[in-house]
Amino acid sequence: MSYLVATSRCPISHESLENRGSVKENVGGVATALKRMLGENGGTWVCWGNGKADSHYPIENVGRYKVVRVFLSREEKNGFYDQFSNETLWPLFHYFRSRIKFSKSSYSYYLKVNEKFRDKILENISNDTDIWIHDYQLALLPKLLREARINNHITFTWHIPWVSEEFFSILPEARQIIQSITSSDLITFHTRLYRDHFLSCTKRFLGRETGIKSKVLAVPLGIDTSYYSPRKTIPTSLANIKNKDIIFSIDRLDYTKGLVNRVMAIDALLKKHSILRGKFVYIMVVNPSRTTISEYRAMKRELEMNIGRVNGKYGDFSWMPIIYMYRSISDNLLKSLYTRAKIAFIAPLIDGLNLVSKEFVSVSEDGIIIISKFAGAAEELSGAVKVNPYSIGDMADALFVALNMKEDEIRGRMNQMKHIVTKHDLNWWLSTILRTIRKQKRNANAWNVNGSD
Ligand code: UDP
Ligand code: G6P
Repeated sequence: MSYLVATSRCPISHESLENRGSVKENVGGVATALKRMLGENGGTWVCWGNGKADSHYPIENVGRYKVVRVFLSREEKNGFYDQFSNETLWPLFHYFRSRIKFSKSSYSYYLKVNEKFRDKILENISNDTDIWIHDYQLALLPKLLREARINNHITFTWHIPWVSEEFFSILPEARQIIQSITSSDLITFHTRLYRDHFLSCTKRFLGRETGIKSKVLAVPLGIDTSYYSPRKTIPTSLANIKNKDIIFSIDRLDYTKGLVNRVMAIDALLKKHSILRGKFVYIMVVNPSRTTISEYRAMKRELEMNIGRVNGKYGDFSWMPIIYMYRSISDNLLKSLYTRAKIAFIAPLIDGLNLVSKEFVSVSEDGIIIISKFAGAAEELSGAVKVNPYSIGDMADALFVALNMKEDEIRGRMNQMKHIVTKHDLNWWLSTILRTIRKQKRNANAWNVNGSD
């Protein structure tokens, strides 16, 4: 038995041939989990080689596993990634109706790129390889693989929200997507809500009587809690703001993250409670994301204009309410910020899960989480202060409550969250899914044996 995983992003990418240090690690939670699984068991990772020098590494051995890269032309990248994945599926599955763009040609590129992935997978499997496909960029793969007459076990993990059947029906290719995903043996989501929405979509699009053969589970992704631990050495740059409460957030620059609303909440908080001026800083780290898409570039201008407006309104020579950083930061700095922050301000308009909230819980000893009720992780983090990210007043009030929360209450809430984040960690996620795969295969074998009696 061996494993093959398929994701849009590669675990590592090469930015230049000359400079060996230019290998970029993919740091997200999914990448960490899959690296661990393949590092321990060996196997193959099929992904899109989009690093500047990746074309020199079509196949690369990384420890016990190999990375097999799919390469795309400029047109394929544009149609598959920019357009169908991120201008059709992404807004659709995050309920942004007005942002959804429809185009037949982008779907044909999406199909073509999924076919390229299929071909690489077929070249790299044997009869007993378990295939694990990830996320909305590769939704057509399960069916394409079944059409190639392979019987391998297929798992599909969907990492973003799944919408109501009404909303899903907006997509002209809804039936193709659902038919494909249900060609998998096991399908997993991060929350019960997304799983339930998906099941009602299968009824609507595949017929209420049909029923599907796949097992559909809600298994929330966890984090490696041994990696996310408190960091005692705090950088001097942070020591400079030691007398202030830190409100912290880190997100990709994406309209789903509700970043402008958070800035407006800081404005509302300071307007209502002028006593708080000079008492806290909001450190807002924003990572560049999908910068080839014009809407993402426009968002940056809007966010920065609002930050400038609020800093201009309340700041003076000695204090600015918002410290804004537009770049990715090192893990050590991230852990220092998690350690030092009083409040993690996690207020996406909607989010598949949100790993940052779990990382903060794991690191922080005396922090508070303000979390949007529309973040997947809110289902598990009952000790967090829940907010409606569309209500600026609600968020300003929650910030005020959190800034004034008593130590006992903070610790009580944190302990509840630490318990669940430790229990449902990365290993738990991985082992729950791998155990289910093994069980399904055992049952299928037993059925085959009995069937031939
Ligand atoms: N991360 C980040 N910015 C950095 C360095 C790391 O966001 O500068 C990590 C963060 O620690 C988390 C992941 O990227 O593990 C972001 O995952 P999340 O689920 O919060 O959001 P997504 O970007 O997947 O929507
Ligand atoms: C979300 C998606 C991932 C995606 C990531 C970064 O977490 O669920 O599939 O890889 O965002 O987006 P990008 O477009 O840079 O791959």
